[in-house]
Amino acid sequence: MRTSLSWILGILALSAVSLNVAIAQEKVSTDQLGKSFEKLSFGNTESLKSVSNRKATVIVLLSFDCPVSNSYVSTLNDLAKEWAPKGVTFVGIAPNEEKENELNSKAKDFGLKFPVYRDPNFTIIEGLKATKTPEAFVLDSKHILRYRGRIDNSFHARLKKNNQTTEFDLVNAINDLVANKPVRVPATETVGCPVPVKESSERKVTTKLTFHKDMLPILQARCQECHRPGDVGPFSLLTYKQTVNWADDIKEYTQNKKMPPWKPGVGLPFRNERSMPEKEIAMIREWVDGGMPEGNPEDAPKTPKKFTTGWQLGEPDLILSADEDFHLGASGPDNFRCMVLPTGLTEDKFVVAYEIKPGTPQVVHHSLNFYDLTGKARELQAKAKAAAKPTDLDRGPGYSVGMGLGFIPSAADFKPGAPDPIKLIGGWAPGQVPTFMPDDTGYFIPKGADLVLQIHYHRVGKPEKDRTKIGLYFAKKPVKKPFHTLSVDGMPALTWIPANTTNHVKTGSLWVTEDCQVHSLLPHMHLLGKSVKMTMTSPEGVKTTLIDIPEWDYNWQETYWLKNPIDAKAWTRFDIEAVFDNSSSNPNNPNSPPKPVFRGEETTNEMLFGFLGATKDGPGRVRASRIPPPPKKD
Ligand code: HEC
Repeated sequence: MRTSLSWILGILALSAVSLNVAIAQEKVSTDQLGKSFEKLSFGNTESLKSVSNRKATVIVLLSFDCPVSNSYVSTLNDLAKEWAPKGVTFVGIAPNEEKENELNSKAKDFGLKFPVYRDPNFTIIEGLKATKTPEAFVLDSKHILRYRGRIDNSFHARLKKNNQTTEFDLVNAINDLVANKPVRVPATETVGCPVPVKESSERKVTTKLTFHKDMLPILQARCQECHRPGDVGPFSLLTYKQTVNWADDIKEYTQNKKMPPWKPGVGLPFRNERSMPEKEIAMIREWVDGGMPEGNPEDAPKTPKKFTTGWQLGEPDLILSADEDFHLGASGPDNFRCMVLPTGLTEDKFVVAYEIKPGTPQVVHHSLNFYDLTGKARELQAKAKAAAKPTDLDRGPGYSVGMGLGFIPSAADFKPGAPDPIKLIGGWAPGQVPTFMPDDTGYFIPKGADLVLQIHYHRVGKPEKDRTKIGLYFAKKPVKKPFHTLSVDGMPALTWIPANTTNHVKTGSLWVTEDCQVHSLLPHMHLLGKSVKMTMTSPEGVKTTLIDIPEWDYNWQETYWLKNPIDAKAWTRFDIEAVFDNSSSNPNNPNSPPKPVFRGEETTNEMLFGFLGATKDGPGRVRASRIPPPPKKD
């Protein structure tokens, strides 16, 4: 691949442009449309010739740090291939890349099929007044800019995909140009990531905070566990340059509390809380607004943050994983895949801790862990294997489901006195630190059970392989108070959610019929979920909010561990109250236009459960009832 040196836009005639391109308001830009880029040249004559007689040239700004840009690689490859014989050339510009060899290896990793160049002097992005990746620019045969904007409308916001793609703006523009017609829509808004900002001596510094002294400790403590190479965060936040490139987003996402990911609002304190103190949020704001000074590298924390690579609680007693890799295709909707892992346990056990270790953390977004005694998960896995074709892009162990396990146990699966046929053993999300359960408690796991990990796979724009492991730690001493998962079940009330309702409320209740302690919470809904709240009301009528998730995000489902387990007396009532949005204003709505949605397991169905992790003083399950207590007799 040739260097960016050989690919320079001769646009010096254009007036000097603002360097703060990334900060500019990002609505539809018509900048530079109709302008001639006729001095557009490759550094070597041969290439210039090869382009000059083309019907159109498509320049796409790419960034291998930007999930939106990455998710378009295969679309762009297909377009480049389809249009090459019709006189249209595709060229990529990757302004984030500092080193050519790194650019080449990333382009190879992603299987990019057209040339891509760097833009070290910002000539191209400044010339085109480009602000985002992956913005596309289409030049006609005379090198006049005729289209700028999105490739199509698959995204309505960064990382938020529409369910259907209905507008193919780039292809329309190419078609129009090739047919010598005016481009029907010459400018559209691009959804994507900011292009880098040129270092500017003009940037006024109005803060004493510096990157090395003040920002780096915050990034290390709050962000880097996920935002580092190879982990789940879509880009790294290790260096000054990376931080400056993402500065506006870092400020915005921390201000609006989208990052670090932590969904609960007011409620009880949790052990695994990830939220960030207001003081740090304000420091980030001040540093970004104050000109982002780098400061002295000597002020940086003495050592870079270390990340444990081994098992964090020591070697587990049992490590389970599929016996081959799961292959995940480059693009398409997320895949919810159930991995069936026989435990081979010949005696009942108690699990006192578990750790999930994703094989390829970039793609593993969360897991829900179950055991299954019915054998149905095995059957589904065998069926999926029999139906698989070697050409499937997603292939390997497990079976794909909506959002549950793909089946619900039937009455026949419940045998009197026997363990429950299926049970949840918690949920995991990135950044969750494994810990041992409170003394004397543990999750029961019966002999002969299969562990079923439902893994939510996120795609990253190139094929990936994963083999996620779970490590189980068993109790070494008798467990006096088995941990029991109760479900506050909203399913009976859920039945269906009419189309075009924005605030559809559904509730469920459960009464514990004996004294117990509540340790953890895990609300569960699908795509129409808008908010969810779990409360408990004592027999005397005192109500406590256990957890309140004001903006439900099916992407982040995890077990919330109460910092201080809470006592519940017999006939305490637990409620779950959820609001669903089945209108077109819910970007996650699986139907466009909205359709009535019924309860069920599939992604396109809805569910409502609030799982409670509880113990009582003594063995056996915590007894509970779905019907209210009998009225008191005086
Ligand atoms: C527990 C893991 C985790 C931590 C900690 C975390 N992030 Fe993220 N971040 C993610 C993931 C995963 C995404 C992709 C979006 C999603 O899945 O919600 C993301 C997305 C983002 C985005 C949006 C990127 C885009 O393309 O839209 C920004 C900005 C961001 N993170 C900044 C931060 C900052 C700043 C911090 C620290 C203050 C932080 N994150 C901490 C996991 C994390």
